[in-house]
Amino acid sequence: MTKEKMKQLKEKFIELFGETNAIEEFFSPGRINLIGEHTDYNGGYVFPASITIGTTGFAQLRNDSRIRLYSENFPELGVLEFDLSKANEKVEGSWVNFIKGMIVMLQRAGYEINKGFDFLVYGEIPTASGLSSSASLELLIGVVLDELFHLNVPRLELVQLGQRTENEFIGVNSGILDQFAIGFGKKDEAILLDCNTLKYEMVPVNLGDYSIVIMNTKKPRALTESKYNERFSETREALKRMQVRLDISALGELSNEEFDANTDLIGDETLIKRARHAVYENTRCKVAKKAFVAGDLKEFGKLLNASHESLKNDYEVTGIELDTLAETAQKQQGVLGARMTGAGFGGCAIALVKTNVITTFEKAVGDEYLKVIGYPAEFYVAQIGDGSKKL
Ligand code: GLA
Repeated sequence: MTKEKMKQLKEKFIELFGETNAIEEFFSPGRINLIGEHTDYNGGYVFPASITIGTTGFAQLRNDSRIRLYSENFPELGVLEFDLSKANEKVEGSWVNFIKGMIVMLQRAGYEINKGFDFLVYGEIPTASGLSSSASLELLIGVVLDELFHLNVPRLELVQLGQRTENEFIGVNSGILDQFAIGFGKKDEAILLDCNTLKYEMVPVNLGDYSIVIMNTKKPRALTESKYNERFSETREALKRMQVRLDISALGELSNEEFDANTDLIGDETLIKRARHAVYENTRCKVAKKAFVAGDLKEFGKLLNASHESLKNDYEVTGIELDTLAETAQKQQGVLGARMTGAGFGGCAIALVKTNVITTFEKAVGDEYLKVIGYPAEFYVAQIGDGSKKL
């Protein structure tokens, strides 16, 4: 974000709320997931990184119990307001629920939030882009509350409370991928996270002559949440059926061979496909991380392509928009691999592209997308930045 924009936001904050206390500034990133998709809630590995596109917040404590909020993204809503004692009352369809959810989750975990505050937020992550604008906001509020109330919440707990907000307050059964990537992100590093044990490893991102290009379908928001929850239930059901004979607590514990030898337990084609994706994608993620560390970007790229294919055919979470972007990208000169990133159904894909051909690449993929889909895609070159923090 430019200095000019920061200055303008602070002036807006003062205009709306006055400067009665110390105004503090915060930033929380978005994330991409390199590989390991829909594996987190199946006890597998993910390999995300936080990006420099994110959400910026300004906050100051109040001396009463009012919480006053303003989003630069929804200026028409003006200042929204509620009393701290009403934090547990959900407002249908409002972004305020992310704030309320984090307050409630922190309070339930025993942290004392005993005063109101003023808060201005500005998000640069395109909504419904699959780059985790919601987890970015959850963790932003997390660091704001942590700082304003001197809570000293351990980072892992803050990440878990972010996930709980999403699961229990917002109502999406998402795993820990987004909040973890955003809470633990570091400049120029990716995170290999085992979602079963929460053990993780920071992996330097050395792409040499290559860059990661984010391709946004710009597909209008669809009912992704219900589809997401459907995949969650399908893989849970497959696991349950496999547990009749196998001593496992998550699909992520199986090798591809063990899975293939036991599909009779599932006995339903759709459920087999869903579970196969979870198991194979987990294996792929581990292999991909090794190739990445060894600097074998060619092999890494092939695994990106295989991941997309599996998400398309077995998990069925891509759709024509993501397929057009990823498959057109895969065919371009100077591209090592491409796949959807995040939950799918719309949102973004990523491609590993030789840096000196990015302009030609964007033109070629952009033109094809416009021709097939009828409206333009958007492209950004990803920069890997730090996790949520006070500025
Ligand atoms: C969304 C969820 C994550 C993860 C991805 C798919 O981003 O929030 O927990 O399941 O989809 O990998």
